[in-house]
Amino acid sequence: MSDAQAVEEGAGTMTEPTSGEAVASEPTAPAVPAAAGSKAQAAEAAPAAPTVVTATAPQAPVLELRDVVAGYGPFRALFGVSFEVAPGEALALVGSNGVGKTTVARVASGLVTPTQGTVHVDGTDMTGAKPYRYARAGVAHATEGRSVFATLTVEENLALSFGRVRGKRGVREALEQAYELFPVLGERRRQLAGSMSGGQQRMLSMARVMVEVPKILVADELSLGLAPIIVAELYEALRKLREQGTALLIVEQQVAHALDLCDRVVLLGHGSVEWTGASADAGDVVTQAFEPAH
Ligand SMILES: Nc1ncnc2c1ncn2[C@@H]1O[C@H](COP(=O)(O)OP(=O)(O)O)[C@@H](O)[C@H]1O
Ligand SMILES: [Mg+2]
Repeated sequence: MSDAQAVEEGAGTMTEPTSGEAVASEPTAPAVPAAAGSKAQAAEAAPAAPTVVTATAPQAPVLELRDVVAGYGPFRALFGVSFEVAPGEALALVGSNGVGKTTVARVASGLVTPTQGTVHVDGTDMTGAKPYRYARAGVAHATEGRSVFATLTVEENLALSFGRVRGKRGVREALEQAYELFPVLGERRRQLAGSMSGGQQRMLSMARVMVEVPKILVADELSLGLAPIIVAELYEALRKLREQGTALLIVEQQVAHALDLCDRVVLLGHGSVEWTGASADAGDVVTQAFEPAH
């Protein structure tokens, strides 16, 4: 799942599997000094990670942003954003162009570090941790960019990811699941990934993430530039993923699909949360919030 994160910076330049592997092969035993994120963790470990689990213990949100301020250098993009996603919940993050949705998605997967506020994943304070630690904690980030190895076949791309997550023996079963989720990938298993359409490549990168069954999938502008039929297929796959227990944070400018899939909506306006509520109540609020495209 780290491929997707790594590639975002590389903007589709990744063609060599070896370089991709290098990027993706996070240290399996944490080579990160214990100090890196555990100071805060240690301080909070006692209340956040109780060892006695009772049937009535409330489940920690799978993702929680609290008063997050973040930006790029001196530029501030987020001014105190707070929301949470419960385990298995699907949350839509909507708002006009440039209000900070992608920045929230990056904060949620560790690619942007807040200058103030905190990020918790599954009850653990992850503020300031590296992206691979977010990934290991169960956060998958599907970016709008391409994250496939162009010079490998569809099946080689999938086998590479699945082998890493499930080990060699798990590859076959994972492939079957992937082809069930996206039949077109099964039909094209011997085709070079780079020769497929943009939509099919996005399906391929989704399939690589989905079979890992993350705790939460952060999907940024999944539908951008895709034909409606492909978008429908991707959303159908998201639905299936959710049935497997994965929570979703769906970032979209085109809101119809997202509202349909999600229980709750967070409307972002200029770096802060303007409205939050049930998808069923979001219709008017969301329509009014969108300025005409320009
Ligand atoms: N890498 C970056 N460097 C500097 N500014 C950025 C960068 N990415 C986004 N921004 C700025 O941060 C603000 C929020 O951007 P973004 O999170 O991409 O919004 P959205 O996804 O809602 O369109 C915008 O003003 C944008 O110009
Ligand atoms: Mg964006």
